[in-house]
Amino acid sequence: MQFFVDTADLNEIRELADLGMVDGVTTNPSIIAKSGQDFKKVIKEICLIVKGSVSAEVIATKYDQMIEEGTTLSKIAENVTVKLPMTWDGLKACKYFSEREIMTNVTLCFSANQALLAAKAGATYVSPFIGRLDDIGLQGMELIKDIRDIYSNYMFETQILAASIRHPEHILEAAKIGADVATMPPKTLRQLINHPLTDIGIDMFLKDWANANQKI
Ligand code: G3P
Repeated sequence: MQFFVDTADLNEIRELADLGMVDGVTTNPSIIAKSGQDFKKVIKEICLIVKGSVSAEVIATKYDQMIEEGTTLSKIAENVTVKLPMTWDGLKACKYFSEREIMTNVTLCFSANQALLAAKAGATYVSPFIGRLDDIGLQGMELIKDIRDIYSNYMFETQILAASIRHPEHILEAAKIGADVATMPPKTLRQLINHPLTDIGIDMFLKDWANANQKI
């Protein structure tokens, strides 16, 4: 499973990349707005840190403008992935970029049929939003399962990018199902290592070693 971080925080990206945990980065208009940074500048910076896919989302809702914005974004760096909304215009734009070998990420996917459309449009990634489905009382993980089954049935190459991840359990479940990628907030990635028995074990080893009177 590839790990993407869902952030435009350059310090976080750098730190996690140094740990070898970042295969790619996803952003969206809310993340960019929250970062307070210039959109194109920050995407360029991220692409210098991370060699894998870096999703940058178009704001346009109409096809022609999506092509214009997506083309501008794709020129920032080779690893920019043009993120497009799950609309007919977005899917048509997805087809346009796929045909030109520019990576695409169709976002705001909330049903398996939508994921099927993204695959038909040649998307590199589809982003099903687990957390937002959970938020309205549905089972976000069921969507990941359905998409995995459908894509495997037909050997679609579109990668499942589990998004809107809120906690480590989401990552575990998505990994068990076989999502290709999980994009997560840095905080959630950091939580993956936590286990009380690990902490207790380290304390115990250090205490015993202190009594052993030895050096390495
Ligand atoms: O980047 C898309 C997605 O991961 C957003 O997550 O937490 O805003 O639902 P969230």
